[in-house]
Amino acid sequence: MNRIQHSERTHHTIPGSQYVLPSDELERQRLNLQHQVIRQALGGALLFPCIRLSANDQVLDSGTGTGIWLLELAPQLPPTIQLHGVDIITRLYPTSYPSNIKFSVENITRLPSSWNNTFALVNQRLLLAALRKVEWPVAISEMYRVITPGGWVQLCETGSWRAGPFTARFQSLMRTLLDSKGLFMDCYKAMPLMLRNAGFADVRVEVIQLSLCGLEGRDDRKNMCNVFRGMKTPILNVGGFGFVNSEAEFDALVNGVEDEMEKTASAQKEYFLFCARKPSL
Ligand SMILES: C[S@@+](CC[C@H](N)C(=O)[O-])C[C@H]1O[C@@H](n2cnc3c(N)ncnc32)[C@H](O)[C@@H]1O
Repeated sequence: MNRIQHSERTHHTIPGSQYVLPSDELERQRLNLQHQVIRQALGGALLFPCIRLSANDQVLDSGTGTGIWLLELAPQLPPTIQLHGVDIITRLYPTSYPSNIKFSVENITRLPSSWNNTFALVNQRLLLAALRKVEWPVAISEMYRVITPGGWVQLCETGSWRAGPFTARFQSLMRTLLDSKGLFMDCYKAMPLMLRNAGFADVRVEVIQLSLCGLEGRDDRKNMCNVFRGMKTPILNVGGFGFVNSEAEFDALVNGVEDEMEKTASAQKEYFLFCARKPSL
């Protein structure tokens, strides 16, 4: 396939990682907007209502990105609770944060061996463009290993979305890209089984459905279309997969998706939330 000339965003160059989204200022803004969309849809909640934390607990945010979830959780918890964010990329980490938050570089498929039974809660959100299908069970087993007996995991992933023909076409293009890298676009469907297979119990699933239309859907539509724009380089670097033949065609397709979502009353997207517990000893 011939590389298609285009203006590139900043992407990671980490050997072995298939993560397809950029890590630059635009992506920081997108991640923080996405966080607000999800938080608002949950009535402001950051934790599943069943999760209880105690004064000396530790919390891990796996694939933390900008760390926004930890930054907003910290003021709701006693300052004695230690919060830890890990990611393979540090470029999006905040520069100032409370002293009970720590950020470090870790690959979530190989967490430190010294972290056995350490965290009362592991949170992980939106890794579908990052973990290969074969890596998902590994990452979930790693979460299980580092959670204390009786501790919790909570996850959030994108489910399906629909609007019209432009959206369906981009969805096929995105699936082709993710499949080509071994990534797992439908990870949300397999999550309950993957959690149970790792040993988790009390698996709960919640689905939120958000409109992508008009003013109501404005923020998540912007978030989604900026996810799609963030995939330009991995798509055009391999020649467009037969869906697009130039940067102008790529841009026109995503602009078509955005326009279609804005005008289609039934345009909708799902987020899946999962919560489960590591059995007590
Ligand atoms: C879409 S972002 C989500 C960020 C954050 N969880 C949120 O909801 O805002 C995915 C993040 O996972 C990170 N990531 C990808 N592969 C990873 C891995 N193997 N280990 C740790 N972090 C990873 C990326 O660098 C990126 O920051």
